Amino acid sequence: MEEVNKELEKANRIKSDFLHTVSHELRTPLTSIKAFTEILLEDDIDAAERTEFLEIISRESDRLSRLINNLLMVSRIESGQLYWEMGMISINKVIKSAVDAIKLVIEKKRVELKVKVVDNLPQLSGDEDKLVELLINLLDNASNFTDPGGKIELVSDEKKINNQSEIWISVSDTGTGIEPEEQEKIFDRFYQVKTDILTDKPKGSGLGLAICKEIINHHGGNIWVESKPGEGTTFTFTLPVSLRKEE
Ligand SMILES: Nc1ncnc2c1ncn2[C@@H]1O[C@H](COP(=O)(O)OP(=O)(O)O)[C@@H](O)[C@H]1O
Ligand SMILES: [Mg+2]
Repeated sequence: MEEVNKELEKANRIKSDFLHTVSHELRTPLTSIKAFTEILLEDDIDAAERTEFLEIISRESDRLSRLINNLLMVSRIESGQLYWEMGMISINKVIKSAVDAIKLVIEKKRVELKVKVVDNLPQLSGDEDKLVELLINLLDNASNFTDPGGKIELVSDEKKINNQSEIWISVSDTGTGIEPEEQEKIFDRFYQVKTDILTDKPKGSGLGLAICKEIINHHGGNIWVESKPGEGTTFTFTLPVSLRKEE
C-alpha cells in the first residue's frame, strides 16, 4: 500500500512539474510575440528594426509550434491515435526539411551547423513527417544545450552488416554534455536534467527524446546517446533499409 502511494505521489509530482514547465514554455514565446507586435503597431520604427522584430515574432511562433507538435504527438501516442504513414522515402530529403526548419534558430544562437550527408543513400520505408520531427528535436536540443561559438554536426552514412543495410544518422554538439547517470533517463517521458542555475533559457517539455525513441522503435531502428560532460554530446540513430516495399 505504501509503495503504491509513493508511486502515485511521484506520478503526481511529475505531472505538476510538467504542467509548470509547459505553461512557462508556452508563456515565454507568447510574451515576446505580444510585446513585439505592440511595438510594431504603435511605434514609428525604421525598416531594419521592423524586419528584426518580425523575425523575432516568426522565430518565437516556430518555437511555440514545435512545443505544441510535441504535446500533440505525446497525447496521440498515449491515446493510441498516432497514425503512421509509411512509404518509401529519401533520408536526405528528411534531413533537408529538418535543417531548413531549424537553421535560423541555430544561426541566431551563433552556433555553427555542419551537415555532412552521403549522396545516393538507398530509400527506406518510413514516415517522412515523423522522421523530420525526430531530427528537429535532436537539432533543437543540440542548439539549446550549446553555447554561442559552439558547433553542431549532422552526419549521415550507410552501413552494411551481413548484407543488411542500415542508415546511420548522428547529431553531435560541443555543448554542456550529459552526466553518465542521466544518460539513460533522458529518453523517459517528461525527464529533464535538473540544473541549479536559474536561467531564462528555453527548457522544453521533457518530451522530445521520448518521442524520438517512439518514432525510431516504430521503424525498427535504434537510438542512443554518447556524451562527455563539458565536452559535448552525440545522438545516433539507425534505420534499417529493407529491400521490399512494406506497409
Ligand atoms: N544535446 C544535448 N546536450 C545536453 N543535454 C541534452 C541534450 N539533449 C537532451 N539533453 C538533456 O535531456 C533532457 C531531455 O531532452 P528532451 O526529451 O528533448 O526534453 P526537453 O528538450 O524538452 O527538455 C533535456 O532536458 C536535457 O537535460
Ligand atoms: Mg528537446
